[in-house]
Amino acid sequence: MLKSILVTGGAGFIGSHTVVELLVAGHQVVVMDNLSNAKPSVLARIRGLADRDFTFIEADVCDRDSLREVFHQHDIGAVIHFAGLKAVGESTRLPLDYYRNNFCGTLGLLETMKGFGCRNLVFSSSATVYGDPAEVPIREEFPLSATNPYGRSKLMIEDLCRDLASSESGWRIALLRYFNPVGAHPSGLLGEDPQGIPNNLMPYLLQVAAGQRPSLEVFGQDYPTPDGTGVRDYLHVVDLAKGHLAALKALPGLQGAVPINLGTGKGYSVLEMIQALERTVGHPIPWRVGPRRPGDIAQCYADPSRAQELLGWRASLDLDTMCRDGWNWQQNGAASQF
Ligand code: UD1
Repeated sequence: MLKSILVTGGAGFIGSHTVVELLVAGHQVVVMDNLSNAKPSVLARIRGLADRDFTFIEADVCDRDSLREVFHQHDIGAVIHFAGLKAVGESTRLPLDYYRNNFCGTLGLLETMKGFGCRNLVFSSSATVYGDPAEVPIREEFPLSATNPYGRSKLMIEDLCRDLASSESGWRIALLRYFNPVGAHPSGLLGEDPQGIPNNLMPYLLQVAAGQRPSLEVFGQDYPTPDGTGVRDYLHVVDLAKGHLAALKALPGLQGAVPINLGTGKGYSVLEMIQALERTVGHPIPWRVGPRRPGDIAQCYADPSRAQELLGWRASLDLDTMCRDGWNWQQNGAASQF
């Protein structure tokens, strides 16, 4: 019988897009999600888009009994682990929550996987583990550091995976270091649904474009970049989801815990992002310059060649597609969720 793929956090922004791709590719999928940052309607939307069913378990990844139960009930061949908290500012206020959810959650997952003889993992890491890189584009061998509890929790999990993989053979772990995921499913049915004031540029900019917020504050225009604003590697979430499928497929050929950048390799500044979204929406988007955000870096974009080499994956969707799909979601999708 075909083994199942366990997707923790499969109802979230990146997780939901990945589950659609997995189902379309014919995988048996078990989603475990506590719905702390997702609406239950996402599940029906995933089923509708893929035209296939999957098993859903409403449980927290920190709940060891539920994890064991999942492995008892299903023949899990590999795990894609998204479940975790991801807001940098919040992590400085609630470090215990971040270490418990992100680190302890992963520790329990790895212990359960080991107990059931499942050693195949695709983990959601982040480019945040590079700290303030000395140069760009960023390669996987660059030194690692973290400046906040969120980043440290990702780094600690990476270290845990590396230690585990060197302690015994057979572990195949892809540590996927995402750059800046944006956009939404082209159907307008899946996307990011930030609670409260968005922390990240794209969701904030979309809300300003839609008239829900008066203007965007550009965090600093005195960086050593071509126009003085921060440069990032924005990546369409559907490309990112496909990167997880490529990683899953490539797992048998990986040895130990292997970090892999998932980015486009191209950086855009905040002002370039505003202009791109203005082209999509067809009207000016108000913005003003404010001070730098503490902890922000000037430039961050990937050298994506390892992903191409090991996974045969590269991003294919351009900035206009990211803006178009993000705007479509902002106008049609987000509000119709319940
Ligand atoms: C942020 C996190 C990072 C995390 C990533 C996940 C911080 C400090 N960093 O990265 O750890 O891995 O999200 O997606 O939160 N900007 C504005 N105005 C805004 C919002 C953002 O000018 O209202 C600028 C930022 O200064 C930055 C760029 O837009 O130059 C992108 O910001 P953001 O979307 O928050 O992503 P990161 O800072 O790359």
